[in-house]
Amino acid sequence: METVVQYINSNKDRFLDELLELLKIPSISADPAYTDDVAKAADFVKKSLEKAGVDIAEIHPTAGHPIVYAEKMVADDLPTVLVYGHYDVQPPDPLELWDSPPFEPVIKKTAIHPDGAIFARGACDDKGQMYMHVKAFEAMNAAGNLPCNMKFLIEGEEEIGSDHLEIFCKAHVDKLACDVVLLSDTSVIANDVPSITTGLRGLSYVEVEVTGPNRDLHSGVYGGAVANPINVLCDMIASLKNEDLSISIPGFYDDVVIVDAAERKAMNEAPFELSDYKEDLKIEEIMGEAGYTTLERTSIRPTLDVNGIWGGYIGEGAKTVLPSKAFAKISMRLVPNQTPDAITTLFEEHFRSIAPKGVTVEVKPHHGGYPAVTPTDTIEYKAAEMAMEKTYGKKPIPQRSGGSIPIVAMFEEVFGVKSVMLGFGLDSDDIHSPNENYGLFNYYKGIETIPYFYLYYQKLKSNH
Ligand code: BES
Ligand code: MN
Ligand code: MN
Repeated sequence: METVVQYINSNKDRFLDELLELLKIPSISADPAYTDDVAKAADFVKKSLEKAGVDIAEIHPTAGHPIVYAEKMVADDLPTVLVYGHYDVQPPDPLELWDSPPFEPVIKKTAIHPDGAIFARGACDDKGQMYMHVKAFEAMNAAGNLPCNMKFLIEGEEEIGSDHLEIFCKAHVDKLACDVVLLSDTSVIANDVPSITTGLRGLSYVEVEVTGPNRDLHSGVYGGAVANPINVLCDMIASLKNEDLSISIPGFYDDVVIVDAAERKAMNEAPFELSDYKEDLKIEEIMGEAGYTTLERTSIRPTLDVNGIWGGYIGEGAKTVLPSKAFAKISMRLVPNQTPDAITTLFEEHFRSIAPKGVTVEVKPHHGGYPAVTPTDTIEYKAAEMAMEKTYGKKPIPQRSGGSIPIVAMFEEVFGVKSVMLGFGLDSDDIHSPNENYGLFNYYKGIETIPYFYLYYQKLKSNH
């Protein structure tokens, strides 16, 4: 391991420069205008894996964006680790809120990142975290110290639902066979409070359209006499929450696994300062489902949130108009054992049932995803725990995250293996937001920690 550590230390600047090059490619998967850039990023990832020393590196075109696959098989009797990551990014809008252009990475010091942080779209989610694995592999390979067989599966559609990766996995079960999946696409609690993500929420996402009169009307001539679809939509959305801020859709909680008191107690022992939380967000008070703490509300409880709402006149000045249509995009984060299909159906039936006669309602489901929970009594969890303890000097805390990575549940279903979510970001890195950033401390800590995972995983596995 000494050689691996030395290799990392003497190549730090280059490891950073390479990531900055990748961050310059606007690989926005959601926007067809950037299809060529997405392909360019795939090519960059493939070439960097080749340079890092894999035996095979391939680009697999799909009906959507390409999938990069690479492998280095060392020996039949060694365990095989499949590294998952994504090179696509979220759209950078609103551009005017960025302090520097999203695809021109700059390094700046901040209060949370005194050693500096890279500011760019994808810096943390997930180019920076994915690239740590390429560099950790390069270092292990260069030092002649590869304790495991390695497979890399890096996709370009995570931010739009991983539809084609799912098809690819189902079609290549043998090729992708592995003992465990390793990914870095989540956060630690703080740089001095390491943690391992043990849960992800699922997702059900719908777009609704409410139509009133057949055309826009004069809001004086008709106002007060026909249903205004925006007013109606707001009422309908408001009614989706009860007074205690639980969700009112009948059957919504039927499949929710009740987490026992001991586990709730343990999760609430994680360091969390409500005053810091409020101060960071500049809010006077928090708001959420009665009977649960903030940590519980963002991990073991499902949610319903409006992500966007529009209709009518939103231009300059005042236009008196009673609109014909109103729209909203609504997400529901799911927990075990809720399923996206069942929840989407419940939503749709309920939403139609609460519409007054004066409007018609359409519900369009978008991509969804299953929740995932990973156990802590496995060899892979233990190896991750030991790796972090080695490089942080502290035992990491298991913590369920509120975010979603739908492919993790699919890996378990299709390959029958668990994932280790060894993330190194911070919740304050502003992923999906303007000024996304990733600490240099975090980038290097990841590169340093990952090789230990392989070392301990192979050791524990061979003793088993
Ligand atoms: N890496 C995130 C998910 C994440 C972030 C998990 C932070 C835990 C902590 C991932 O890229 C993401 O953004 N997922 C989407 C879902 C996807 C289907 C668009 C999400 O959670 O909104
Ligand atoms: Mn991600
Ligand atoms: Mn994301």
